Amino acid sequence: MEFSIKSGSPEKQRSACVVVGVFEPRKLTLAAELIDNAARSHLSDIIRRGDMEGKAGSTLLVHNVPGTLCDRVLLIGLGREKEFGDRAYCDAIRSAVRTLNETGSFDGTVFLTEIPVRKRSAAWRVRQAAIVAEQAVYRFDQFKSKKDKVRRPLRKLTFVVDRRNGLAAAEEALSQGQAIAEGIALAMNLANLPGNVCTPSHLAEAALKIAADHKIDCEILEREDMAALGMDSLLSVARGSREAPKLIVLQYKGGKSDEKPVVLVGKGVTFDSGGISLKPAPEMDEMKYDMCGAASVLGTIKAAALIKLPINLTVLVPSTENMPGGAASRPGDIVTSMSGQTIEILNTDAEGRLILCDALTYAARFDPDTVIDVATLTGACVIALGHVASGLFANNDTLARELENAGDEAYDRAWQMPLWSDYQELLKSPFADMANIGGRSGGSITAACFLARFTKKYVWAHLDIAGTAWKSGADKGATGRPVPLLMHYLLKRAGKLG
Ligand code: BES
Ligand code: MN
Ligand code: ZN
Repeated sequence: MEFSIKSGSPEKQRSACVVVGVFEPRKLTLAAELIDNAARSHLSDIIRRGDMEGKAGSTLLVHNVPGTLCDRVLLIGLGREKEFGDRAYCDAIRSAVRTLNETGSFDGTVFLTEIPVRKRSAAWRVRQAAIVAEQAVYRFDQFKSKKDKVRRPLRKLTFVVDRRNGLAAAEEALSQGQAIAEGIALAMNLANLPGNVCTPSHLAEAALKIAADHKIDCEILEREDMAALGMDSLLSVARGSREAPKLIVLQYKGGKSDEKPVVLVGKGVTFDSGGISLKPAPEMDEMKYDMCGAASVLGTIKAAALIKLPINLTVLVPSTENMPGGAASRPGDIVTSMSGQTIEILNTDAEGRLILCDALTYAARFDPDTVIDVATLTGACVIALGHVASGLFANNDTLARELENAGDEAYDRAWQMPLWSDYQELLKSPFADMANIGGRSGGSITAACFLARFTKKYVWAHLDIAGTAWKSGADKGATGRPVPLLMHYLLKRAGKLG
């Protein structure tokens, strides 16, 4: 979609559709009032007759509004004014964009971006509007032979901001929002691909393409390279599959040459059958999403490169399938990780930590300022936090706060969980340095505690996105999370968030 910023009066817009808001009960926003004045109370008449109460989620398309230059006016119900926060704002933009797309408007001029949102700046409103708009029209139909085409799809959106808030700041927020939206779309597209298409080799190809498009260095480590590095924990997972494992390394150098990089590590299990500890059949298809961590860090580096963020960013993606082949690990097998620590594999379905631990050991080679891994790591995290917040773990409280704040600002929230040493006890093994599982209780915490044993040399955080990376049910699909959180964290670091 094409986006632009402008300021001006709603009644003077030459546009297929002007979008304005109505609060509940029946309260016109400023822009709606301006139209109403120009239209000799046409809108207030409609509202008085009961066609638009202002309830959140309601919409009303009005044609031939006198005194205006646009083809139609779209009224968006905003809910109660005092409850108008992040969520209500994003919902309003989403329903505006969906309605515009479905009602034959080629372009729309949106005044919702002028409405104050609690705690948020005009730049925030514009950035968020661009992200939500792209997501509202997103479809994944590349495997449908008949695509249900929108007859006259929305092509161009103009966000209106008050000139006093600064048009330059709005323009910058818009390009940030567009870059984040592109990163999200990349992550969603990769994640929605089926496991027979999105293999580790496919992820490696995708990484090479991102690198070629954006002046990013890319290196793909093959099985032999990993063996030479001693990554036997990672390789033990790959042995159950016919697909070749890959360790993807991307380096974006937008910062000063002596500046230490942020390293993002994404779990790239392109299908998780559980291995010999096979998963039950129901919903097993969703384990194609076990590479959402990988998809999100690839989306993030692309977004960062798109806006030429002045930081150094390295992305590591350990990628493999987890399958029950003849060479697969057996429960009870012991492997030696790259760090030298030995691991007793009591459950082959706890494979994420087995591939991440070697990638996290490898991360130290980049002399990182900060390392953040992102993984669909545990079903237990879904039980703990549902589908709203990602699990956040960190060995450094400053980093935990920064990520929490970034998630809040991005409306892509994370909630911190403990990494106390008491939990480490649960990983004891009679035969090796540790077991790869800690029993049923506190499953997302023991998984994070396992990773913590490999991240002692640097400042580190872990995001468990098992509950947030995709949606199940009727609107099954990837969400692109936590690209928004990660990008807000990086923008803030680079001093690019107002
Ligand atoms: N990829 C899964 C985690 C997962 C499960 C994410 C369901 C989203 C939905 C991970 O590899 C896994 O299987 N974890 C096990 C760990 C257990 C064996 C200790 C789990 O959560 O059941
Ligand atoms: Mn698993
Ligand atoms: Zn997994």
